[in-house]
Amino acid sequence: MRKVHIVGNWKMNQSLADINAFSETIRTMNDLKCEAWIAPQAIHLNILQEKSNTIKVGAQNCSNQNSGAFTGELSPESLKDMGAHFVIIGHSERRAIFKEDDILLNQKVLKALENKLKVILCVGETLEERESGDFKSILKGQLLNGLKDISASDKESIIIAYEPVWAIGTGKVASPEQAQEVHAFLREELKAVEALDAQATPILYGGSVKPSNIEGLLENTDIDGALVGGASLKGESFKELCELSK
Ligand code: PGA
Repeated sequence: MRKVHIVGNWKMNQSLADINAFSETIRTMNDLKCEAWIAPQAIHLNILQEKSNTIKVGAQNCSNQNSGAFTGELSPESLKDMGAHFVIIGHSERRAIFKEDDILLNQKVLKALENKLKVILCVGETLEERESGDFKSILKGQLLNGLKDISASDKESIIIAYEPVWAIGTGKVASPEQAQEVHAFLREELKAVEALDAQATPILYGGSVKPSNIEGLLENTDIDGALVGGASLKGESFKELCELSK
């Protein structure tokens, strides 16, 4: 049985005052059936962790190196030291704005796993790619290249997130049927990764998820949770998402 994961991706948002208000609200989340995780800005990892003991915290990105002369980078080893539970790798904003390619992302995945961080590997197509017809081969490439050379001991540390780029921050959520179709495809492709158990690997959906559409998405066999941007910023909304996720 795959556990449902609700993961908030705060991107470069949330002031200290916002974090205080958020933590106050989610303090009352009890008896959750899902895993409730948040990736704040890395400088806020510890403060969020201290204030919100009902969630696990993680990072939105990490370096492909543990240490050295890499000004401005975020060491996976230090993230682990500071209590990070997971790291998001390959978010479409990292791919598009920071030009991160599959080779670099694979190095990041391996380095994060080496440091015992759980990895949420994101894959997703642009609208143009979807309309071109063969978007599934693009997703397959992102998935298999990203997971290259992982070992069986990492089996329980991998989570996949399908985030169609056209649905991120646009209010245009993929329909549950569209999402399920792609999730089933990704699970099938995961069978080619010998180190993983495709049936046991959680596949999350991301892109304009909110309390009003989460239940319809989670009703589908291959949708095991959500990676949520905008709707994870307010405590009330994040709490509702978690409570609706049984
Ligand atoms: P959104 O963002 O929920 O605001 O669409 C999702 C994401 O980018 O992870």
